Amino acid sequence: MSTTTRTTPEDITAAVVASFDGCTDERLRVLAQAFAKHLHAFATEVGLTQEEWEAGIALLTATGHITDDRRQEFILWSDSLGLSMLVDALANPLPEGATESTVLGPFYLAGAPLREYGAAIAEEPAGDPAWVYGTVTSVDGEPVAGAELDVWQNGDNRLYAVQDPDAPDDHLRGRFRTRDDGTYAFLAVRPVPYTIPDDGPVGAMLVATGRHPWRPAHIHMIVRAQGYRTVATHVFDAASEYLDSDAVFAVKPSLLREFVPRAADDAERPAGVDGDWFSVENDLVLVPSAEPGEPTDPGRTA
Ligand SMILES: [Fe+2]
Repeated sequence: MSTTTRTTPEDITAAVVASFDGCTDERLRVLAQAFAKHLHAFATEVGLTQEEWEAGIALLTATGHITDDRRQEFILWSDSLGLSMLVDALANPLPEGATESTVLGPFYLAGAPLREYGAAIAEEPAGDPAWVYGTVTSVDGEPVAGAELDVWQNGDNRLYAVQDPDAPDDHLRGRFRTRDDGTYAFLAVRPVPYTIPDDGPVGAMLVATGRHPWRPAHIHMIVRAQGYRTVATHVFDAASEYLDSDAVFAVKPSLLREFVPRAADDAERPAGVDGDWFSVENDLVLVPSAEPGEPTDPGRTA
């Protein structure tokens, strides 16, 4: 008498994993097999129901429908689930003392104008003036001359220039070069917290799970220098709301900076500032790299 062998959930997972055994691209095989294994492990662990599977498919479908060349809901999923930060951390292990990286975010636009030392990035009033200054050094303490800081931020209307059809194209962004002693300075405005786009599937997830869409106030920076690893980072306002619950998990304690209140009659008041202002000291430490590096914004040559 023959016995019938029943197919178990483990048999199904094993068959899918084995289906990639013949993949000749070694890395692709590793990715495909681990993805199948962990996807199946997820469904098995939670006992995924048919209805929940359908809801998941609907979520992915809605994500595809809302995504276009201006709105990237898939990256928003990656950000809001901390995957973007995890991938960055895995790719960029840093030596002690080096400036930590964080998410690039969706509002970076290559080709910001090159501006003079100390120049303002706001092309129209956008909030309280903030003098951001510091020195770029190598991890060994040597100053890095000619490093490029590519900076962008939002104004007190919460918007980045790319989100604001009324703002000049180069509003609240610019590139600066360090001087021979590695120092740099620019006149920013105090940034304000803002929400990630929350009118799509990710926003629905935040509501359903009791999370919020807010990011703490920050200024973005990419620092490039010949012979050094490029780093994309933030200057977080250490007094901002939401530092302990950033919607995209981008806060690192080493990136918090104090916005120091300064009076209108302060002798160090920068040119072009009328009333009270803030100063923000922000030193940056780069890691030498054998790779050529990017000496300048690839979107603009001068
Ligand atoms: Fe941002």
